[in-house]
Amino acid sequence: MKKLIVALLISGSIAACGGGEQKPAEEKKEEKKPDVLAVDNTKGLELIGANDCTTCHKIGEKNIGPAYTDVAAKYEATQANIDTLVNKIIAGGSGVWGAVPMTPHPTLSKEDATEMVKYILALKK
Ligand code: HEC
Repeated sequence: MKKLIVALLISGSIAACGGGEQKPAEEKKEEKKPDVLAVDNTKGLELIGANDCTTCHKIGEKNIGPAYTDVAAKYEATQANIDTLVNKIIAGGSGVWGAVPMTPHPTLSKEDATEMVKYILALKK
């Protein structure tokens, strides 16, 4: 009988130890960015400055790539055009403004590219 009690006590204390283990806190999902219409031009400009865009693009003057004011004049700021330009920046390509290609930017997120496109299209006069 004594042995049984001891056995129960031991198993009880083991269970108590095991039960206290904490589950890792669930990772917080990043909040979705506000939708495309919530224009934040400063962020787009900052991103353009932080990437290599200015190597080939100037705001109001043609360089290796078209002036951003010319891009803004060419495209309405519709969701479809924004998507097209976002994909173009990420994938690169040529043929719209001439034979010179834009280099691809595969590490750029769609969110960041969208901010840049919104900045560019907002240059429309
Ligand atoms: C190596 C030079 C180069 C770099 C770097 C570059 N571009 Fe371009 N970009 C071009 C050229 C050249 C074109 C014209 C492509 C064409 O004719 O289809 C262009 C076109 C564009 C267009 C218009 C696309 C179209 O189809 O009308 C946008 C918008 C644009 N670039 C944004 C950017 C942004 C934002 C960055 C930085 C992330 C960037 N570019 C970096 C050379 C460059």
